[in-house]
Amino acid sequence: MIYLDNAASTPMHPHVIAAMQSAMDSLAGNPSSVHQMGRQVKMRLTEARERLADWLHCQSTEIVFTSGGTEANHMALFSAFLAGRKRTDRPHFLTTAIEHHAVLESLELIQELGADITLLPASLGGRISVDALLDAIRPQTVCVSLMMVNNELGSRLPVEEAVQRIKSIRPDIHLHTDAVQALPNLRLSLSSLGVDSAAFSAHKIHGPKGIGALYIRKGQPFFSSLRGGQQERKRRAGTENILGIIGFAEAVKMLREEWEIRQEKLYRLNRLMRSVFQQIPDCEVLSPDDAVPSILSTAFSGTSSSTMLMQLDLAGFAASAGSACTAGVIAQSHVLSACGYPENIRKSAIRWSLSVMNTESEIEKLKDWLQGHFKSS
Ligand SMILES: Cc1ncc(COP(=O)(O)O)c(C=O)c1O
Repeated sequence: MIYLDNAASTPMHPHVIAAMQSAMDSLAGNPSSVHQMGRQVKMRLTEARERLADWLHCQSTEIVFTSGGTEANHMALFSAFLAGRKRTDRPHFLTTAIEHHAVLESLELIQELGADITLLPASLGGRISVDALLDAIRPQTVCVSLMMVNNELGSRLPVEEAVQRIKSIRPDIHLHTDAVQALPNLRLSLSSLGVDSAAFSAHKIHGPKGIGALYIRKGQPFFSSLRGGQQERKRRAGTENILGIIGFAEAVKMLREEWEIRQEKLYRLNRLMRSVFQQIPDCEVLSPDDAVPSILSTAFSGTSSSTMLMQLDLAGFAASAGSACTAGVIAQSHVLSACGYPENIRKSAIRWSLSVMNTESEIEKLKDWLQGHFKSS
């Protein structure tokens, strides 16, 4: 199978598997236990936290390990809600209509609990205007949530500009970013970015599934929505997923070591993919030219996404129609709708996503298949 669905999840790096296997053999204790076996696990937990913080340019105390990107987004937004409710009866949240469901559905729940939510539409290519964001801010706005990289189009959202402009007029607003798809693509410095919180996930960088992290800026009030223990400085109760955390840290180590090689390769493969799609007359590339290199969305006129994905699957290619989290059933993309793409495009969209483990010869095979397929169909 040729795997072109890396935005959904990436295969684990061999070093990650080895690090987790060795931890499985040797780490029996609970990091909260005071005996040697507990302390040994605690030390590994501390090392992992420091490694992630170092890569993200933040302090290790600002990192809270979570079960993944979904939970990290949820915790950040709930914290902003609980903090906001102390200031106003009806806190207002501002976000974009192209966020991941992890953000949109957390906000739906927050709305049910008494908040107002504004979803800003995007334009073609997944662009968001900071002017429009500023215009939508109200006196009751307590939180703005803006993803860094859109998971369907690969578009980069103007988080840095938004933080600067919003903080200059309303420093009290909590600025959250879903940085799950930024981690494999952008070299981040959280201390200079100035966001109050950010969500990350290990399985997009060849780490294990079911582990992620929430960055919470030092000094930012945090109200945990998962209580019942002192772990993670009381910000996320429950015995830590030490195997996942060790795997995440090893994935970050490999990301750091291979950063230049990976970036160079992703851009090379992305250019090759784009040139392949240019040669297929029925194909339109939806991702903007400056999208991150790992994500490329297309539409093939006249072929529905589900038919195309089935044909690709039979031919040995794994891709997706939108974000994997909704792809169990192929629903039309809320991202493409929010950007204003017409129905024929939304119905025929395919998202291709790359990782460093892909090769040029795989893309050549895709090219041969697409050329044969569109000639004969
Ligand atoms: C942008 C974005 N946010 C959040 C998530 C959810 O992350 P996780 O699968 O770790 O819960 C994903 C996963 O696809 C994503 O792409």
